[in-house]
Amino acid sequence: MSESRRVYLDNAATSWPKPDSVYDAVQRAMREVGAPAGRSSYRAAGEALRLVASARERAADLFGVGDARQIVFALNGTDALNIAIQGTLAAGDHVVTSSVEHNSVLRPLRYLQEQASVEVTRVACDRQGYVSAKAVKDALRPETRLVVISHASNVTGAIEPLDAIGELVRPHPALLLVDAAQTAGHVPCRLDELHADLLATSGHKGLLGPLGTGILALADGVESRVRPLRFGGTGTKSEEDRQPETLPERLETGNLNVPGLAGLAAGLQVVLERGVEAIGQQLGERTRQLCEGLQAIEGVTIHGPAATGARTAVVSFNVRGYDPQEVAMLLDSAYGIEVRSGLHCAPEIHRTLDTFPAGTVRMSLGIFNDEQDVELAIRAIAEISKAALPV
Ligand SMILES: Cc1ncc(COP(=O)(O)O)c(C=O)c1O
Repeated sequence: MSESRRVYLDNAATSWPKPDSVYDAVQRAMREVGAPAGRSSYRAAGEALRLVASARERAADLFGVGDARQIVFALNGTDALNIAIQGTLAAGDHVVTSSVEHNSVLRPLRYLQEQASVEVTRVACDRQGYVSAKAVKDALRPETRLVVISHASNVTGAIEPLDAIGELVRPHPALLLVDAAQTAGHVPCRLDELHADLLATSGHKGLLGPLGTGILALADGVESRVRPLRFGGTGTKSEEDRQPETLPERLETGNLNVPGLAGLAAGLQVVLERGVEAIGQQLGERTRQLCEGLQAIEGVTIHGPAATGARTAVVSFNVRGYDPQEVAMLLDSAYGIEVRSGLHCAPEIHRTLDTFPAGTVRMSLGIFNDEQDVELAIRAIAEISKAALPV
């Protein structure tokens, strides 16, 4: 086993490495362009605006949004979720969500529960991490304003039945917010197919952009239902002291992260050129290899859907005789394999999996992981597991 090879299996947290075109785009935006976007009219400022516009247009293309102005850039997936959650709910409203959710959904909702008397119903998932569409429908009330569901669990990889959930929520006036942090770039995420009114995602995971980028995509007619969280300069309507009503300025304020968005534009181009279906297929093959390899090891318990089920390339497991943190440390120190351990910022699902509070070991694949990476990971877990078994 090569000691020098770095095997990065934490792509659900952020993808690494990035395509060379992403590094080049960030460098160029910083070294050569260097100007703000949308504020000045000299040539470099125009180029900065074009870089941002190309990220917006590519994201609109990927999410099936007709007007690129309905793509709002955010700091990360958490920020995009906060804009959507805090911007749509008011005192006395009711929200339906699930036990699969990440803390970037659970915590804003808890805050609104305590500060604004928002009521929250959390639908429990099953042991694979799937949420029932019927349970979501049954939780709806006349005062429900928002349904927030992850497109896929960042713990088990289960892809939620959003087409069915969306069908059942559609007749209700509540908005459907999809957290696509774990699916954008890996699984098709068109707003119309998901029946989503709002879709929030990171720019730095499957979309291959740099850290510090996130996206909120809005369906037609939703903009007036999302209040801004932040107010300030937009480079437009500067004579007015009110935040502009038009998108993206209504929800996107202050100087934009031009280097980050230039990198995101390059990442999106790679995703669009390769095609999400092709990426999904490649990741599906590697995920099957990983699940089947781990399953065959005595003492390993995999949590979540079967290797070929509706799942992403996120695989959580435990190794008998070890705390997940010990496994992660051994993988890093002895094998150069980087994984995450613990609750993965999604505490509630672990109560269903019976993995609370220690959590799981999580391996998450990206487009640059090859067969050899997966083989090395399986062999390392086999050795670690064997060392714990009584002789
Ligand atoms: C399901 C899910 N939602 C939201 C987030 C938050 O995204 P970000 O790290 O970009 O803030 C994550 C990140 O891991 C996630 O897995």
